[in-house]
Amino acid sequence: MNDFNFYNPTRIVFGKNTIAQLDALVPAKARVLVLYGGESARKNGTLDEVRTALGDRDVQEFGGIEPNPAFETLMQAVEQIQREKNDFLIAVGGGSVIDGTKFIAAAACFEGDPWSIMETHGSNVTQALPFASVLTLPATGSEMNNGAVITRSATHTKLPFMSPHVFPQFSILDPTKTFTLPEKQVANGVVDAFVHVVEQYLTYPVDARVQDRFSEGLLQTLIEIGPKLMTDKQNYDLCANLMWTATLALNGLIGAGVPQDWSTHMIGHELTARYGIDHARTLAIVLPANLQVRRAAKREKLLQYAARVWGITNGNEEERIDAAITKTRTFFESLGLPTTLSAYNLGEQDINAIVGQLEAHGMTALGEKSDLTPEISRRILEASL
Ligand code: NZQ
Ligand code: ZN
Repeated sequence: MNDFNFYNPTRIVFGKNTIAQLDALVPAKARVLVLYGGESARKNGTLDEVRTALGDRDVQEFGGIEPNPAFETLMQAVEQIQREKNDFLIAVGGGSVIDGTKFIAAAACFEGDPWSIMETHGSNVTQALPFASVLTLPATGSEMNNGAVITRSATHTKLPFMSPHVFPQFSILDPTKTFTLPEKQVANGVVDAFVHVVEQYLTYPVDARVQDRFSEGLLQTLIEIGPKLMTDKQNYDLCANLMWTATLALNGLIGAGVPQDWSTHMIGHELTARYGIDHARTLAIVLPANLQVRRAAKREKLLQYAARVWGITNGNEEERIDAAITKTRTFFESLGLPTTLSAYNLGEQDINAIVGQLEAHGMTALGEKSDLTPEISRRILEASL
């Protein structure tokens, strides 16, 4: 097992009717800014519930944080905070609202050009406003981690940042708040969480037995509940299991002490930035091809994945790896996520542009061994046509 330093200060309050606990968790004298996305949180009553729980605190709102949150929008919230002197933020939404709030929390205290937070991937962040989240979409794990992905619309640049200052203080996870999600977003959530586990598990062995077995348990849970959710998306127990699985998939626990890949995500971010394809949908395109192209380097873990996650034990090694990659692809497709670029009318002619973006954004040494060059990214994209 590799050495590690694991830190996660986020409190999780999980279950039905837990939004009421905001009253006990938010400082009584806080000047609160509640941040949300489009209209879903207002329409399904979540915003009202949050406002009621906050009682007679001084509460303002900032709405309109879009999927794949835009720097340009987030800077309007920063201006509002500086004007109104808010000192506690509450994100009500999915990964986009929570990520956006992380950036806002850091940018509101930042001296200098706030975009440099993204250019340095967060290493220049020294403080942030305290914030919490009320999660409405299980997928990203943003509710219990210190990462965020922000897009500069003007230049189609989508970059991640991380900082120990942007862990939520607490997150409220009420699975009933996900009942209004469209089927497509539920499927996206299952696939995003699945790929988060794969990025931390499917690399090379370092004898990290419990991390491996936690990961395999999370993957098996997603394989079990994903199809059921497609026909029963208001089933509380299924929603609760998806919510907690997605949180555990990216809260640092399974990634401690193991090599991590993240190349599927970095290539996927370029597809979102350039073509606006939903985050999880980009992962469904890239992952099967990525495993195919890098199957030699990932051989031992692919065989373990085949046997322990999919129960594939027949055939020689190459056949078992083939079968595991096919199972992965079929799982994504069964949830309605296409696994090819051509399904989005993208072809050979688009690959140069995507590789060019990876180069422009410094994504030239990706993967668990930092050996995934733009040339290999090109091969992965060609294999996903
Ligand atoms: O904007 P509203 O009206 O709220 O609608 C949203 C949005 O259109 C809707 N929605 C959310 N909760 C709902 C709901 N609709 C009905 N009922 C509800 N309860 O869902 C749509 C998508 O929301 P979004 O927040 O964009 O989805 P997701 O949670 O998948 O977040 C995606 C973003 O997170 C980033 C992605 O890159 C992308 O920008 N990621 C963040 C990560 C992190 N912080 O660790 C890791 C991930 O790999 C990912 O990169
Ligand atoms: Zn993701």
